Amino acid sequence: MRLLILLPLLLTAHEPITTKLTWTQEISRIVYKRCASCHGEKSNIPLIAYDDARPWAKAIREEVLERRMPPWGAVKGFGEFRDDPSLSQPEIDRIVNWVEGGAPKGDDIYLPSLPAPPKAKPARLTRGMTVRRKFTVGQGVTATGIRPTEIPEGGWVQVTAAFPDGAVHNLIWLKDWRKAWMRTYFFREPVWLPKGTTVNVYSDGPVAVLLGFAAR
Ligand code: HEC
Repeated sequence: MRLLILLPLLLTAHEPITTKLTWTQEISRIVYKRCASCHGEKSNIPLIAYDDARPWAKAIREEVLERRMPPWGAVKGFGEFRDDPSLSQPEIDRIVNWVEGGAPKGDDIYLPSLPAPPKAKPARLTRGMTVRRKFTVGQGVTATGIRPTEIPEGGWVQVTAAFPDGAVHNLIWLKDWRKAWMRTYFFREPVWLPKGTTVNVYSDGPVAVLLGFAAR
């Protein structure tokens, strides 16, 4: 009798598992690679152990679908960058399908080893030019990257290069900016800016960016 009453409760508390994807096989590998650097055991939102991550499953689905996590700041498709940590579409699909399929754990034997703490030292722009609105290139330069130096919390900035032949090259678009996410964005390929190119900085507030140049 007691069992008959409890059974429906148990069934609603545990969503049915409708996916073959598991935390220990597929999902932990993505999370260790793309999320662990900020969501370690001691962080506010630890996502290393299954039991810590499981309660966040719905939020994880939401964050990766909206492409808010991992935070990157730059809008996809507007400029191309070297160390873009964004998830690939198949990685996003895997996470979403795992969550929607009930977020199962899987067998512990498949768990990968814990990620090593990152030891790469961040690269820096050594030469460059601070641009607030507009800058016209006097002598041709090779642009290597951009670092926002002034941008309001939650603000946005778009930077383009208008070449003398009329072509416009999108350099970067930062949106919903958070100071905590300050970094240098290195272009995937350095961008040659011939003499007469105008670098335009658009925003609705006071902004400044450091445009990095390669040594001549
Ligand atoms: C560069 C650091 C960083 C990385 C990498 C990162 N996160 Fe986050 N994450 C944060 C910070 C900081 C917050 C807190 C956000 C805030 O303050 O609103 C957060 C918040 C979250 C939240 C909670 C959102 C909510 O509902 O409040 C989830 C879920 C999350 N991250 C998932 C992920 C996943 C999944 C990944 C990897 C795909 C990831 N994060 C990668 C820094 C990071």
